[in-house]
Amino acid sequence: MSDKKLGVRAAAGTLAAMSLVGGLLATTANATEQGTAAPPIVGGQAARIADHPWVVYLADEQGNQFCGGTIGAANKVITAAHCIQGEQPASVRVVAGRESKSSTDGVEAKVTGVWVHPKYQDANTGSDVAVLTLDQQLPQTSLPVATPADTASYEPGRMATVLGWGATSEGGDASETLQKAEVPLTSDADCKKAYDQYDPQAMVCAGFPQGGVDSCQGDSGGPLVVDGKLVGIVSTGNGCARPGNPGIYTRTASYQADIQAQLTAQH
Ligand code: ARG
Repeated sequence: MSDKKLGVRAAAGTLAAMSLVGGLLATTANATEQGTAAPPIVGGQAARIADHPWVVYLADEQGNQFCGGTIGAANKVITAAHCIQGEQPASVRVVAGRESKSSTDGVEAKVTGVWVHPKYQDANTGSDVAVLTLDQQLPQTSLPVATPADTASYEPGRMATVLGWGATSEGGDASETLQKAEVPLTSDADCKKAYDQYDPQAMVCAGFPQGGVDSCQGDSGGPLVVDGKLVGIVSTGNGCARPGNPGIYTRTASYQADIQAQLTAQH
């Protein structure tokens, strides 16, 4: 089984609880342990698929969600390379138009082609982007990809929206329903402080200095959105929502030409 699937169940409970308590939940410490609903994504809220029709999830043949993605064209989905590397395309389903995993809403498309960025090795070295070709044209609208001209959409401090069905706490369970969170883009200097592998050309970071809000395991491949454009793809990070450890996203503008070529390719 691949790393990303195991990651959802990775142990980190006590540390995660402590970093959350240190963050936004200081006054409701141990809310999760007391049985209160866990904070979605991490520190987010429920989102409507109708408001974000281009967000999709990737599932295996049994229907188990393992990553997110973004509709970039009617029959193309943008996701993280690490989500699809090592998977059999034939066993991956793209689920579009389904807010709750327990519903049968929307469509399940099959994957007929996979493009992984040729320079991709692992999430720590960048190029964590892939484009899937589907067996059908989806009715949902697609999300434009940020271009190198969209510099204003990458300014540190800009609030970005991240969406997904991933874990709602570090080491916790994935969400049944679509969640979203708002996180500020981090400066290159601050991200480099947190991550030695940070490459400002390949990546962009987002998160509050005090942590508390983040994407998490299972959100990978999903969208980070600013100004109605895809500025990032959930890629990696040290734990989830930890203070001083923002989430790392693929900087889509840097790969826009390659992505765009794939979105218009017929295969
Ligand atoms: N690699 C994870 C996945 O495959 C996503 C991790 C995102 N981490 C973060 N702290 N934002 O689902």
